[in-house]
Amino acid sequence: MTNPADNWRPESWQQRPALQQPAYADQTLLAETLAELAALPPIVTSWEIEDLKQRLAAAQLGQGFILQGGDCAESFSDCNSPRIVAQLKILLQMSVVITAGLKQPVTRIGRLAGQYAKPRSADREEQGGESLPSYRGDLVNRAPFTAADREPDPRLLLRGYERAALTLNFVRGLIDGGFADLHHPENWDLDFVGHTASADQYRRIVEKVRDGLAFFESISGRPIHEARRVDFFAAHEGLHLLYEQAQTRYLEHRRAWYDLTTHFPWIGLRTADPDGAHVEFFRGVANPIGVKVGEALDEAQLKALLRRLNPDNEPGRLTLIHRFGAARIGEALPRLLDCVRASGIDVLWVCDPMHGNTRPAGNGLKTRRFEDISAELAAAFRIHREQGSRLAGVHLELTGEHVTECTGGPRGLTDADLDRDYRSTVDPRLNYEQAMEIALQIAGQG
Ligand code: PEP
Ligand code: CO
Repeated sequence: MTNPADNWRPESWQQRPALQQPAYADQTLLAETLAELAALPPIVTSWEIEDLKQRLAAAQLGQGFILQGGDCAESFSDCNSPRIVAQLKILLQMSVVITAGLKQPVTRIGRLAGQYAKPRSADREEQGGESLPSYRGDLVNRAPFTAADREPDPRLLLRGYERAALTLNFVRGLIDGGFADLHHPENWDLDFVGHTASADQYRRIVEKVRDGLAFFESISGRPIHEARRVDFFAAHEGLHLLYEQAQTRYLEHRRAWYDLTTHFPWIGLRTADPDGAHVEFFRGVANPIGVKVGEALDEAQLKALLRRLNPDNEPGRLTLIHRFGAARIGEALPRLLDCVRASGIDVLWVCDPMHGNTRPAGNGLKTRRFEDISAELAAAFRIHREQGSRLAGVHLELTGEHVTECTGGPRGLTDADLDRDYRSTVDPRLNYEQAMEIALQIAGQG
């Protein structure tokens, strides 16, 4: 990319309207905290970021598939070994199934190690006649409905950064230590419940992969080292711009700016205005960038967005993550594809079948139907194919745990089941079996 971008500085976004930013009362403490944050070592490196960009470029050009998934929001209390291992396991298992089905390399990107800031539809929340600032994620404030908890606290920026680093450090250790070795897929077993049809299907796929490896190793007479280690990258919504800015550096050896809080920041739907602060900030960093798109952007805005974020039409630079909902995708996606085609700028296409399918359950909880998620994904594959385009990835909210947050799926969960184990403080996630079912569906596209 052209870097440094024209008239861009890490702080130039501050001249634009910045949506979804917390209002900190103590500006001195905020400034001290940001200085402390900026002095810490980065969480990721430019080598990793460029490696990911190459993989995204390959997927964009037809070689590879992107599996992006994790919690809607991580919480600080999620920074523990069982939770991190469970997220890694489910993404590894899904990726084996998808690789075997599509016969393409799969790049895994966790919504993890920094997914701590959330956009909210209202700045304030009312309860029982009291009005307090909305909960904006653990990076900003705390979930309980008290004035002290909801006050944005600058020190949480440091705690979040440190927990992101702890999380990614553990993930790297597991992967480098052999946990992700394809010769031992049993490492990833997450009591994939006894006897469902998909469990059997999964076991057959793993057997095939293991046999295939053994076969090649026996005829070549040497181990396939590539099978011992997989790649794994981190992503979060690049929402809190002071946080992102604090770890954005100019790297002399690359002559470019990098946001070193994560490999793959994405811009959320609510902050994707091409004239807004978020697009201004991210146009200047060399990381691959994702943008969530729905029907809110008109054609002129979309074209401006593409020009600003990918002026040099660099493969792997820009991922559009579309999220329409099962009921809307049939009409909305062909229009989006036409518009992007007409712009002359190429993107990597990813489908988020979660965020357009959120609905209130009878008991007031937020939920999603597995059937809607699956239907939107099936429609996305079909429409891209019909239009001569390629769906190269999927973006999911999921967990390796047996939660009850989305209805339907292999166990036919209903609204009445949701109370049993609903843990998300924000959006409902696919549970372990539901996520594996989606992986099998994707594999079936091969
Ligand atoms: C999210 O990914 O959790 C999210 C808020 O998505 P969107 O920006 O697409 O609404
Ligand atoms: Co969400």
